[in-house]
Amino acid sequence: MAAPLPNRNADWWRDAVIYQVYPRSFADGDGDGTGDLAGVRGRLSYLAELGVDAVWFTPWYLSPLVDGGYDVADYRTIDPAFGTLGEAEKLIAEARELGIRTIVDIVPNHVSDQHAWFRAALAAGPGSPERELFHFRPGRGERGELPPNDWPSQFSGTTWTRVPDGEWYLHLFTPEQPDLNWDHPAVRKEHEDILRFWFERGVAGVRIDSAALLVKDPELPDYVEGVDPAPFIDQDALHDVYRAWRAIADEYGGVFVGEVWLPDAERFARYLRPDELHTAFNFNFLTCPWEADRLRRSVDDTLAEHAPVGAPATWVLCNHDVTRTVTRYGRADTGFDFAAKRFGTPTDLGLGTRRARAAALLSLALPGSVYLYQGEELGLPEADIPLDRIQDPMHSRSGGVDPGRDGCRVPLPWQADAPSYGFGAEAEPWLPQPADWARFAVDRQRADPDSMLRLYREALRLRRTEPGFGDGPFTWLDSQDDVLAFRRAEGLVCVVNLSGDPVALPSHERILLASGPLADGGALPADTAVWLRT
Ligand code: NOJ
Repeated sequence: MAAPLPNRNADWWRDAVIYQVYPRSFADGDGDGTGDLAGVRGRLSYLAELGVDAVWFTPWYLSPLVDGGYDVADYRTIDPAFGTLGEAEKLIAEARELGIRTIVDIVPNHVSDQHAWFRAALAAGPGSPERELFHFRPGRGERGELPPNDWPSQFSGTTWTRVPDGEWYLHLFTPEQPDLNWDHPAVRKEHEDILRFWFERGVAGVRIDSAALLVKDPELPDYVEGVDPAPFIDQDALHDVYRAWRAIADEYGGVFVGEVWLPDAERFARYLRPDELHTAFNFNFLTCPWEADRLRRSVDDTLAEHAPVGAPATWVLCNHDVTRTVTRYGRADTGFDFAAKRFGTPTDLGLGTRRARAAALLSLALPGSVYLYQGEELGLPEADIPLDRIQDPMHSRSGGVDPGRDGCRVPLPWQADAPSYGFGAEAEPWLPQPADWARFAVDRQRADPDSMLRLYREALRLRRTEPGFGDGPFTWLDSQDDVLAFRRAEGLVCVVNLSGDPVALPSHERILLASGPLADGGALPADTAVWLRT
């Protein structure tokens, strides 16, 4: 195991800024149209210059990529489209040299249908020990022609698929992602070994996919609306799994971030007890509309639910599953809801960008860690993908109603005047880039002091040098209802104006950073945020 980084303490994760890399779309080192590890290695200096503390890589393992790599065929092999295990090891080490820690993504709820275990289960037939690693069941109905239960899919459509010998298997996502049986000791043992495998390679943390879904009610009963928790989520026995994982992480000084979507704050916080996960994504904040009272409540609820378990909050505005922030904030409905995604929803990108800039300063001033999704620092909008190029199964499984998630997964623009905006060389990128993306390219934004990139760089620089930011005390200041104003330690104050009119700033010594120009007389314009030293 590599030595811990000398420059930061063991609690680095309590206030880290973590950058999410979607390897397929970050940078294409070999020029085949798909991003890869060589591309990331070539751009590590960009991440260091941006000033992030860690990088979370969405799955880079061997995968048929039916669900963008969340269908893993082998955790110990890097998908050849992305590179090799040796390159991943080099990447982890090179990033550490630059002070950047690595977080890998583990997908324990399911595997790919191409995983050796599932192929063996199909071949072995009903009643075999191989099938016990999954949820195989006979069907209901006279001839077993009906699925074993009525569970709804996370991705529209059915959660059961029948195999030729008549049995059905459970998949909460696509049929190519069979759910594992977490009551089976071999499933638990295998994942503990996978954690060790990656911790041994020097990773500092693990993001846990679909973290509340693993354990199912063993009876697999029908879903009864209103009965909480449903039989496929948040089962009490799941906490034993995470206690065992935590013991392993502690051996290596590693940390977890869970993808836990649960509406119940108390049940959510159970995952963050001191002997379970270190952190979990804040989806309440991510889905919150751009409205002062809703945001204030989201911040209050977040801090209140984390306090009893002593875990730091996380602040997330977007990721590879949701609509890009500048697009969402420019719409009439500024919240996010998977079920409401539709083609052609109008947006005002100028307005959305102003708000996204303010939201960046808001989230970076709150206590806890912050996640940035690649391209967020460039202010990329959601892209329209031509129908015949959409790859995301969320689109096809919705019968074409849901545009899917590819619009936030488009390859990054690095150079305004290069083919594929410098993403790669010869080949066309795996998803088409919009024709007007030169204006978002890294090289242009580097040179423009008013760009989103420069705002993020400056905010991250200040956050590193001002000890009052990150984990620590937080107090709301008196302000009008549609203005958010709060104080952190060391006299740092953040004010966000969500009203339609300019507002006067509280008395201050100095403006450290503003998300946009101030109005005449120094007032804070609508949809603008400022960091003050008071
Ligand atoms: C959550 C991931 O973020 C998403 O991209 C994926 O499709 C599902 N989990 C299934 O693994």
